[in-house]
Amino acid sequence: MEEALTTIRQESILDLRNAASEADIYQVKSKYIGRSGSLTQLIKNLITIPAEQRAVVGKLANEIKKSIEAGVEDALKCLRENKKQQAMGRVDIDLTLPGRCQSLGRRHPITQVTDEIVSVFTELGFQMAEGPEIELDFFNFEALNIPKDHPARDMHDTFYISAEVLLRTHTSPVQIRTMQQTKPPLRIICPGKVYRCDSDVSHTPMFHQIEGLMVDNDISFGDLKGILTLFLHRIFSEKTSIRFRPSFFPFTEPSAEVDIQCVICRGKGCRVCKGTGWLEILGCGMVQPAVFRNVGYDPETTTGFAFGLGVERVAMLKYGINDIRLFFENDLRFLSQF
Ligand code: DAH
Repeated sequence: MEEALTTIRQESILDLRNAASEADIYQVKSKYIGRSGSLTQLIKNLITIPAEQRAVVGKLANEIKKSIEAGVEDALKCLRENKKQQAMGRVDIDLTLPGRCQSLGRRHPITQVTDEIVSVFTELGFQMAEGPEIELDFFNFEALNIPKDHPARDMHDTFYISAEVLLRTHTSPVQIRTMQQTKPPLRIICPGKVYRCDSDVSHTPMFHQIEGLMVDNDISFGDLKGILTLFLHRIFSEKTSIRFRPSFFPFTEPSAEVDIQCVICRGKGCRVCKGTGWLEILGCGMVQPAVFRNVGYDPETTTGFAFGLGVERVAMLKYGINDIRLFFENDLRFLSQF
């Protein structure tokens, strides 16, 4: 009987080694330790051998049974592990597929409109000028003829940092800074970010303005009209009607607001132009003598005009956008249309 057991042990090892599938392994298991397996039968027959041999042979038979069980488990584990490795290692590469395209970035619509406006003026001999966004009360208000108690300050919804320091509410302070540093004649265009404590479909706390200033000794309102008309025709269309409407700004006298014919209804009257047929597009005027005095220019011999416009407003009218906040949400579906 011991000989038979040894044979079973050796053969079962060989069989497990040759088993190529789970089914093969289970077959080996049942061949030896299944209900009618050879080792199971042999264990059943242990009672037929003399009692003194039974203990030794029985122990050996049990050991072999355990080692076959362990061998079966190992073989199954090994097989499953191999299958997993194969699945992970298999990479399907289709060499005929075209490569992935990199999508090109583009300039933000506000940058595009700013560049377009600036380039119209640089062609007319204006030079770019810039100033700080964190500004002194003096440059933002005082020197522009807006003293501390002036009612015009109410329109600005200013973010104050301290009593004398603020976030600039318009690009007009760049006029003052430039004039302080340069003698006339002078032609500048100043794009930049400005800040006001305001937020709804047509206002954001940060937006962009462009300031323009032309100073010499014989600048007239005619120059102002001519240059702004040419500019608006370039940005919108040659056919767009333009009108100058009297207005008030503390830093210009006389002052005007410029309207263009409504780009949506072509002057017939609609919701966008509130039925008037006109859209307000910029503020302008002849530089106040007080402003010239504040920067050390002689108002008797110096004349000039200034204007200021909101870039978001121009972009909204140019492209028919009805909510200013779209510019700042950075949704690529919106931005990629420009
Ligand atoms: N600074 C004005 C504003 O933010 C716009 C403006 C109006 C600028 C008239 C000018 C001007 O230079 O002459 O509302």
